[in-house]
Amino acid sequence: MIVTIDGPAGAGKSSVARRLAAELGFEYLDTGAMYRAVALACVERSTSLGDVEAVAGVAGEMKLQLKNDRVWVDGSDVTDSIRSMHVTSLIHYVADNPAVRWRLVELQRNIAAQVEIVTEGRDQGTVAFPDAECKFFLTASPTERARRRLSELELRGETTTFEELLLQQEERDQRDATRPVGALVKAVDAVEIVTDGLTLEETVKQLKGIVEARQN
Ligand code: DC
Repeated sequence: MIVTIDGPAGAGKSSVARRLAAELGFEYLDTGAMYRAVALACVERSTSLGDVEAVAGVAGEMKLQLKNDRVWVDGSDVTDSIRSMHVTSLIHYVADNPAVRWRLVELQRNIAAQVEIVTEGRDQGTVAFPDAECKFFLTASPTERARRRLSELELRGETTTFEELLLQQEERDQRDATRPVGALVKAVDAVEIVTDGLTLEETVKQLKGIVEARQN
């Protein structure tokens, strides 16, 4: 069974997907981490991010591994460095690149071919797994999402402000929604869940109930 969770940044997808996968005994795939890893690999190789072919070349050549919440690029653990604000600010160069997207979607399908999985991102229910048995679209209000992201970054010791995050989030939402390939849209057959005012446990319980009903 494949469960997809799509939605904007800060809607709580990662925490929900991770917990849901653990409770169901499924694997968990964070596809945003894959785009982040390609952006970091370009920085480390001094690849010009504006060079569409060079960026696609990096995505094709680099060795990308994901296991148990950790991410490796060419054998180095990049789990923490891919979450920096610097990498986040560069992701659109790779996420807007169609060749990178096809390469990563192919990898996502290879990973999901062998296991039961909860996979989260922007295009999982629409492009990567249009035939998934269970699709969710997780969202929350912009202020709630920025608040969550602020506490995440503060925990990691990054200094920023709520206003700055809100602005960056608006830009990212705009880019995610208007990207020519893999844009963030709710799949017609996805169940939409608004997480404002819901705890992680309450959200997971809702999703789990729906998945279990479809398993039977
Ligand atoms: O979920 P996240 O914030 O870690 O994702 C990082 C970026 O990657 C986000 O700005 C959009 C992009 N992304 C994407 O284009 N497609 C996906 N399936 C997942 C993420």
